[in-house]
Amino acid sequence: MTKENLSKDNGPKLDVKIGGLRLKNPVMLASGTCGYGEELSDLIDLSALGGIVVKGISLEARTGNKPPRLFETPCGLLNAIGLENVGVQSFLKEKLPWLKKNQVTTVVNILGNSIDEYEQMAALLDGQSGIDAIEVNISCPNVKKGGVLFGTDPKAAFEVTRAVKRACSLPVIVKLSPNVTDICEIAIAAEEAGADGVSLINTLLAMAIDIEKRRPVLGNVFGGLSGPAIKPVALRMVWQVSRAVSIPVVGIGGITTYEDAIEFLMAGASAIQVGTATLVKPAAGLDILHGLVDFMLQNNYQSIGELKIQD
Ligand SMILES: Cc1cc2nc3c(=O)[nH]c(=O)nc-3n(C[C@H](O)[C@H](O)[C@H](O)COP(=O)(O)O)c2cc1C
Repeated sequence: MTKENLSKDNGPKLDVKIGGLRLKNPVMLASGTCGYGEELSDLIDLSALGGIVVKGISLEARTGNKPPRLFETPCGLLNAIGLENVGVQSFLKEKLPWLKKNQVTTVVNILGNSIDEYEQMAALLDGQSGIDAIEVNISCPNVKKGGVLFGTDPKAAFEVTRAVKRACSLPVIVKLSPNVTDICEIAIAAEEAGADGVSLINTLLAMAIDIEKRRPVLGNVFGGLSGPAIKPVALRMVWQVSRAVSIPVVGIGGITTYEDAIEFLMAGASAIQVGTATLVKPAAGLDILHGLVDFMLQNNYQSIGELKIQD
């Protein structure tokens, strides 16, 4: 694959749209695995990617869970970071200017513990130059409703999406939790509330036990499983959700190779995010992009949309 093949005139058409969010290609980096961009900038050219989703941010800075917070499992990674982040004000002041200066398409992942907090976050991000879209992490406890996760209740998912949409004019992507019985009903609720797209999946609730110490490995007991181990589950959910809603779907979960990415695009995703693979190899996203272009050239696909399996 040569650089020219990535340009508009020579290769296949790579650009995709998620509502009002235009990406020059469908490969993004997933939230929590690429920091706020600058951390990776010595290792890869982030502006060559479709975009990055920054680490989830909240109204106030958070310190996260007690250690240990990471543990490797066969073909996977368990994390219980606990949504540690710098807080929205410091993001706007210290992180966003770098992303803007370096022309990185930036999706800001937000989290909150009440509808009001999500709404305030959306209002603060609205109109900030350098932010291209918001991704709403609904895998957070609603403290006003006894800690039930927004992402496990269609009504709460609807309400939080509607509040964010009303509070800003940016494209809004709702990030779905796989820890539900029927992910399609949550996706439909987000669509009905006006989401421009849905992204899936977030991590699968999981744990590990240290048999010598006879106690759970993670300080938080439970964590989220990511990496190749979750790919078949994520792919199945992307297939189902793509057929349940008419808004664009962003596929996430264990994508490590270009073949993985193509599977998600064939299942119905309009774009994909690379997460844990970036922690193993920072250039994974770019390698996936180059492999995707080669595959499209070899198989005569003219656009990303053509990859989707029509049933
Ligand atoms: C260390 C780590 C931190 C993460 N932090 C966030 C986060 O802040 N917000 C979020 O929505 N997802 C977060 N995620 C989930 C990823 O964005 C992604 O949905 C998940 O890891 C599945 O993709 P993967 O298998 O490619 O990693 C995190 C994942 C990891 C491994």
